[in-house]
Amino acid sequence: MNANVQPDGGAGEWPERVAAVRRELTEHGPPRRPDGAPDFATVTLPDRDGDQVRDLLVQEGAGTVVEIGLAYAGSALAIGEALSRTGSPNPRHVVIDPFQYTAYDGAGWELLCSAGLDGIAELVTEPSQRFLARLADAGFTADAAFVDGSHHFHNVFVDLHFLGEIVRPGGIVLLDDVWWPSVGAAVRYFETHLGWRAVPGALAGGTTDPADGRPRTGAYRLPDPRPTPDFREFRPFC
Ligand SMILES: C[S@@+](CC[C@H](N)C(=O)[O-])C[C@H]1O[C@@H](n2cnc3c(N)ncnc32)[C@H](O)[C@@H]1O
Repeated sequence: MNANVQPDGGAGEWPERVAAVRRELTEHGPPRRPDGAPDFATVTLPDRDGDQVRDLLVQEGAGTVVEIGLAYAGSALAIGEALSRTGSPNPRHVVIDPFQYTAYDGAGWELLCSAGLDGIAELVTEPSQRFLARLADAGFTADAAFVDGSHHFHNVFVDLHFLGEIVRPGGIVLLDDVWWPSVGAAVRYFETHLGWRAVPGALAGGTTDPADGRPRTGAYRLPDPRPTPDFREFRPFC
């Protein structure tokens, strides 16, 4: 598939079509919110942060992205827009969310389909902590990952552990909600012990905590080559 042509062969550019679906979601919310489903504004990555994520992935020339946490597809559309713009000959977007049909009635996946992204995306409806292990075993490689699934420390830690195997050395891992201690602590282990480094200036135009200026999102570059730490040199990381 030519990444810059609308996949259905219709008039117009594919990236514009993705951007239009994103805009519609930002301005009017999802097409439906099933009874008891989480609030759109609460769970969705803010639009300006989505723009930052899109721009960074385009700058990186990412062709394959693994994403955890679909919900109403706010971040997924930003990632899809990036993949439609990078010009990769074979863009791929693996999206993992066990609750897309049980909690969101498939609304996020429908939005990806309406943007013509279903040709490059696949939805996996099982917990990322289980699926990523199999993806790593299969030798799957990604250029980048976006993490916004379970926010429990142990789950984020497991996600990052497997993403450290799946994302290629020198690739990047982006996280939403690093301002939460559970998420921030998990990523600090990988910075302290496994050589992950915050990408300077990345996502700098995104949302910050009004109280102390801490950024909401984070971007980390994986070391190349992957280090093998010595367990005897363990240091407290948070
Ligand atoms: C904050 S929302 C994601 C919002 C989305 N990134 C956006 O910008 O629209 C968190 C999502 O993570 C999903 N989730 C929760 N536990 C998960 C798990 N163990 N594995 C993968 N996804 C999970 C939830 O179903 C929910 O859709």
